Order: sequence, then structure tokens, then C-alpha cells
Amino acid sequence: DGGVIAKDALGTNIQKKAYLDSHNGGSRELVQGLRGDATYLIVTEDKSDIEYYALNAVCTHLGCVVPWNKAENKFMCPCHGSQYAPTGAVVRGPAPLPLALERVEEDEAGNVVLKSWKEEDFRTGGEPWWKF
Ligand code: FES
Repeated sequence: DGGVIAKDALGTNIQKKAYLDSHNGGSRELVQGLRGDATYLIVTEDKSDIEYYALNAVCTHLGCVVPWNKAENKFMCPCHGSQYAPTGAVVRGPAPLPLALERVEEDEAGNVVLKSWKEEDFRTGGEPWWKF
């Protein structure tokens, strides 16, 4: 499976170099990812790269898109108060599961590509709960 090129709000392909040039370290912003779902691209703290994992923003409770709260350093769902760590691990329920992971790669043209994450979930040490 070849994955999808991450797209911005206007549907434009996201280029890795341009993205890094225009975002700060630790940035977590929404792009269009697998299935067209809102997905967080993460810039590493030292601003040198985009993290190898992206986070699907759909709350595992009842499906609200979870905003990133930079001041609190957490994802905080406005619907029923679930909270997630910067890695997407659950900090507070009712969310039962961590935010789904997507693998981040770069294609030959410099586009950011998102692929299915089928490996172990490094937050839980278990199998991924998602199937996309
Ligand atoms: S949908 Fe996020 S806490 Fe309920």
C-alpha cells in the first residue's frame, strides 16, 4: 500500500522542506491524512525533522476532532473532556484508546506521505487497535 500524500486545508500537497521552514519545533497541526481524516503532523522539538509518526485526530471516545492545547501540552477533547499526551497516549478518559498512529515518510518529490501503521503501538506496547 502506497499511502497518501498529506494535504493542507486547500488540498495542496505538503512538501517536507517547505513545511519545516514554516513551522516551529513541537508544532502539531492538522493535515488531511489517511481516509481524508484530520491528522496531526508533528515537528520534532529541535525543528530538524517531521516525526516518523502522525496522529489521527479523531477522538477514540465518540469521534470529535481533538484540538492540540499547546499551553497544556496535551490534546484536549472539547466534547467529553478526554485528554491525550503529546504522543497521543490517553491521559484521561472517557477515551478508551490512544489516538491512532500513521507512519510518516517522504516521497522522491519531497512530499510528505502518510501510510498505514501496522507495527506495535509504541505507547501501549501492544498491537494497533485501528485497521486503516
Ligand atoms: S468524543 Fe472526545 S471525549 Fe467524547
